[in-house]
Amino acid sequence: MDQTIIRFEGVSKRYSDAEPAVLKNVSFEIERGKFYTLLGPSGCGKTTILRLIAGFITPSEGQIYFNGKLINNTPANERQVNTVFQDYALFPHLNVFENVAFGLRIKKMKEATVREKVSEALKFVNLGGYENREINEMSGGQRQRVAIARAIVNEPEILLLDEPLSALDLKLRTEMQYELRELQRRLGITFIFVTHDQEEALAMSDEIFVLNEGVIQQSGTPIDIYDEPINRFVADFIGESNIIKGKMIKDFEVEISGHVFECVDKGLNPNEIVDIVIRPEDIEMVSAEAGSLQARVDSQLFRGVHYEICCYDDNNNEWLVHSTRSAKVGERIGLTFEPEAIHVMRLGETEEEFDKRLESYEEASTEG
Ligand SMILES: Nc1ncnc2c1ncn2[C@@H]1O[C@H](COP(=O)(O)OP(=O)(O)O)[C@@H](O)[C@H]1O
Ligand SMILES: [Mg+2]
Repeated sequence: MDQTIIRFEGVSKRYSDAEPAVLKNVSFEIERGKFYTLLGPSGCGKTTILRLIAGFITPSEGQIYFNGKLINNTPANERQVNTVFQDYALFPHLNVFENVAFGLRIKKMKEATVREKVSEALKFVNLGGYENREINEMSGGQRQRVAIARAIVNEPEILLLDEPLSALDLKLRTEMQYELRELQRRLGITFIFVTHDQEEALAMSDEIFVLNEGVIQQSGTPIDIYDEPINRFVADFIGESNIIKGKMIKDFEVEISGHVFECVDKGLNPNEIVDIVIRPEDIEMVSAEAGSLQARVDSQLFRGVHYEICCYDDNNNEWLVHSTRSAKVGERIGLTFEPEAIHVMRLGETEEEFDKRLESYEEASTEG
């Protein structure tokens, strides 16, 4: 069976003719039963994608498919999709039971069925027994769960969650991250979760779409995206990074801060100027003599598991290093890193361009 449940094909969205498109030629596929996250800064178009999937708005260009069927003009109430909104949008004048029952009552379901389904949904989110509570008697985390129960009681094929944890404090948010992940596994339905928090995205997702200015920058598993960011935006947005300019001498050889390093990248032009990303935890602090680069320690913070050391090399590039050993401010140290730790990125390259480049490289090398 085809696992694709949602497919976007060249979808653009313009809210008004006078303004530029907020989604630009977006294409992706969502598979059944997985946990997806749309990750990106405020205003990049995350909610717009959810609204398009839910059917609250229609695309200006392109096609949206649900289970292989074109749904551009299918009304929201005919889609097997439910949304959990950021502010939960619960009805304050209804109790917990009636909030969850609301959608079923609209569908004019029999009372006995309503009772059964609501009680099942509430058990699913660990709120069995809370049926008669008023909404204002529930804590933030409990309201969150009521909102989820109200969405899953309709047995949607896809659950859309628009920054549902952003109103919670850190501790509760972490708890709810586990709960949501666990809930998705138990229900086995597709979750499309929106957040601007990269740690949340990394912790929860099977797949992440990183979005910026209405364009998907990169998609992949959390590990793919963390380990192999495709451009400066992704590298900068996901985790802490050293991003500096470098020069690709030839395949597998790159110049960084005046020194030549072996790397694992290929398919760029000789002497092309590139962005280099090296994660702070991939850099080892050694003696100045043993380092491939030398640097002077500028400042240091103790972060609990490691020291975060900020230093400047001889060309005045700033480096962030995570080390279990401490350094002294003003001390001259050496830095080393493995070829695999060096991530070379073509300036401003998108995922599509990256894939094309590797493809043409593979072609060229089989021909030659
Ligand atoms: N109803 C609307 N009318 C006009 N512009 C909108 C509307 N909704 C969103 N936008 C604009 O579209 C862009 C993307 O918004 P949105 O999808 O809500 O971003 P995000 O959820 O990533 O913060 C923003 O620039 C926002 O101002
Ligand atoms: Mg939003």
